[in-house]
Amino acid sequence: EVVDNKYRTQFHFQPPRNWINDPNGPMYYNGIYHLFYQYNPYGAVWGNIVWAHSVSTDMINWKALEPAIYPSKPFDVNGCWSGSATILPGNKPAILYTGIDPQNRQVQNIAFPKNLSDPYLREWVKPDYNPIIAPVNGINASAFRDPTTAWHGPDGHWRLVIGSKRKHRGMAIMYRSRDFIHWIRAKHPLHSANGTGMWECPDFYPVATQGKLGVDTSEYGAGLKYVLKASLDLTRYEYYTLGYYLRDVDKYVPDGTSADDGSGLRYDYGNFYASKTFYDAGKKRRVLLGWSNESDSRQDDVSKGWAGIQIIPRVVLLDSNERQLIQWPIKELETLRGKLVSVQKKKIKSGGSLEISGIMASQADVEVAFELSSLEKAELFDASWTDPQKLCELKGADVKGGVGPFGLLALASANRQEQTAVFFRIFKGLNSFVALMCHDPSKSSLRPGLYKPIYGGWVDVDIQKNGKLSLRSLIDHSVVESFGAEGRTCITSRVYPSLAVGNAAHLFVFNNGEEDVKVSELKAWEMRKPLMNGI
Ligand code: FRU
Repeated sequence: EVVDNKYRTQFHFQPPRNWINDPNGPMYYNGIYHLFYQYNPYGAVWGNIVWAHSVSTDMINWKALEPAIYPSKPFDVNGCWSGSATILPGNKPAILYTGIDPQNRQVQNIAFPKNLSDPYLREWVKPDYNPIIAPVNGINASAFRDPTTAWHGPDGHWRLVIGSKRKHRGMAIMYRSRDFIHWIRAKHPLHSANGTGMWECPDFYPVATQGKLGVDTSEYGAGLKYVLKASLDLTRYEYYTLGYYLRDVDKYVPDGTSADDGSGLRYDYGNFYASKTFYDAGKKRRVLLGWSNESDSRQDDVSKGWAGIQIIPRVVLLDSNERQLIQWPIKELETLRGKLVSVQKKKIKSGGSLEISGIMASQADVEVAFELSSLEKAELFDASWTDPQKLCELKGADVKGGVGPFGLLALASANRQEQTAVFFRIFKGLNSFVALMCHDPSKSSLRPGLYKPIYGGWVDVDIQKNGKLSLRSLIDHSVVESFGAEGRTCITSRVYPSLAVGNAAHLFVFNNGEEDVKVSELKAWEMRKPLMNGI
């Protein structure tokens, strides 16, 4: 079949063709990173789901292998859905995944590598005693999926959670096992929240309150907080909370700082779903992967011959204020940085802009630091603005402001008929300044029939004290992945320009606020293409 390359990403993860969704079972094993993912071998729309498999030594260059897990037994005959890997004692990986059985029930299955001496772990064996966890005793068999990586307790039992719902209450149902094969449901879910609907792809893991190291899933002790994340089928957004894990009673107690009712914290305020972290024992870090869906039409996907990408893997850390996570692209990405253009100490006057030329701007990594000499002209913040996305919709890139909008115009055509704006606005609140970050792709393409939602998130920084704000955007043909304030707020958008394609894409810094802003430094690298699954 024909694959249209115009919008293919070059350094984001993609197979050569067809549909992909959730990252599955990411793990680091004997020096190799494994990424499995939901894949349709037969087309560019969802269906016929198997676990496709790629391996890497840096999570940037990928080698495609044959699918690792595919329907072959009654317990997964109708699909091999999402799940996670756990490395068991004796350095033995195990995968738990959701199988769709002949009655279309969601059941949980286990699989082991056939041959541990194969460095790529190509073949996986599904024992006949599967399924190991079935939807019994009142569990809704069509809302019972996506087992997490398991963690080990002081009582010698493993624990994991599975996403589910009861009526409108989303929940993470918990199971315990001594031998990893016989699992017993705990009396209470690890956590649940009314009105949130089905929790897909839950994730639960510790983060350190000090230092820059990741924490293995089974670690426990002082100096740790916990993250519980769920992907909400209802809204198609993910939310996480920070909290404490009371191991003796297997209870998760979220902090008051974060709501899990749809108004809370998100890894990414844009097109990002079904994410999963894993502990990278090689580099002692916790790494986040996630799926970014297309936002063109189903027909576009069929004619492109592909749909879906994975974001650039991100390191996840707890912010020192312990109110939220910080994410940053893995440093291996920087090995792809090629030609560099840079700008220093350049004032961008009110209403002004600056073109950054000299690189192919459709495939770039851009870092920019803004200096705000004065916040005097900041607009007053209205207390009714509780939803950052709505505020970005109200005040898009073309709406003039006091301090901001300032930021980048990515994938812009020469005359800016097309542009994807990535920007900040600063407001003056009652006691402090409020920083907002937005993605405005409303002018990203002249093509009709595209979904071009505006996205936004608050930026948790003391702008008055710092006087600066940084932004990094990874621009890759049909994706713009942005990190505000060193990774405090992240937004990903999928866009499909008609003019700003390949070498015809331009990059600008802009300032649509009354107050001048200064670019203290900007660096933009053209990105090389890694080995990407044989293409
Ligand atoms: C999330 C999800 C999971 C499910 C998988 C099926 O995107 O719906 O809940 O396991 O995708 O492909």
